[in-house]
Amino acid sequence: MSTKFHIMAKETDVADGQHIEVKLEGLDLLLASVAGEYYVVRNQCTHAKEKLCGGIQKGFFLFCPKHAARFDLRDGSTKGKLTQTPLDTFETRVFNGNIEVNLVISE
Ligand code: FES
Repeated sequence: MSTKFHIMAKETDVADGQHIEVKLEGLDLLLASVAGEYYVVRNQCTHAKEKLCGGIQKGFFLFCPKHAARFDLRDGSTKGKLTQTPLDTFETRVFNGNIEVNLVISE
């Protein structure tokens, strides 16, 4: 498995409790900051493929702005009637003030 990390943002680009959209290597990603940790998921809801960026973020949970499916940013999991398909998640790390992401989908 490849572990090539790509710089996706500076730590100062995303405030705690917030998220931003980042396009990288042809992927549309969502980078979220929660309590000093960073989480990256694919920026596309698994219900009707709407963008997730702009949804309400509460702690580790992100709500889709379209129909409010709830996803756990830590592992992409979701429960409920709208979708049970998890989001793709990606490993992150911080190096020299930059948030880096491994674009191999985490398992
Ligand atoms: S598109 Fe996200 S909940 Fe429907």
